[in-house]
Amino acid sequence: MMETIAMASDHAGYTLKCALKEYLNEKGYNVLDFGTDSEESCDYPDYAHPAALAVENGEAAFGVAMCGTGNGIQITLNKHQGIRAALCWRPELAALAKEHNNANFLVLPARFVSYDEAIGILNAYLEAKFEGGRHLRRIDKISCR
Ligand code: RB5
Repeated sequence: MMETIAMASDHAGYTLKCALKEYLNEKGYNVLDFGTDSEESCDYPDYAHPAALAVENGEAAFGVAMCGTGNGIQITLNKHQGIRAALCWRPELAALAKEHNNANFLVLPARFVSYDEAIGILNAYLEAKFEGGRHLRRIDKISCR
C-alpha cells in the first residue's frame, strides 16, 4: 500500500501544491490536503499546524509543504517537536535532507522554483533513504525539551 502524504501551503504555494498533489496522486500516493484551497491571501500557520499534527500522530508518513519563500511554513512546521522540515531548492538538498536529517517534511519555495525544478526536488526526496548511524545520533540530540 502506498504511503499517505500531508500537504499544506498558503496562497503563494497554492498552484504548486495543486500540481504536486496531482503528480503524487498519479504516482499512487494518498494525499491529505490541509489547504489552503485558493490563491486568496491567507496565513500559512493555519495550514501548516494541522499538516504537522497529521505527521506527528502518524496519520501521514511525511509531508510536502510550500509558501512563497518556504521560510514561513518551514519555521511553523519546525515548532512541532516531531517535525523535521527541510527547505530545499535543489534536488541535492532534498536528497541530503532525507539521507542525513531524516526530514519528514519537504518544504519548497514556490515563488523561486519552476514546476520542473519542484518535480526534480520532490523525486530526489522521495527516492532518498535515511542513512542512520551518526546521523541518527545527531537527530536524537535535536530536541531541546
Ligand atoms: C506571502 O506573500 C509570503 O509572505 C509567504 O508565502 C511566505 O513567503 C512567507 O514566509
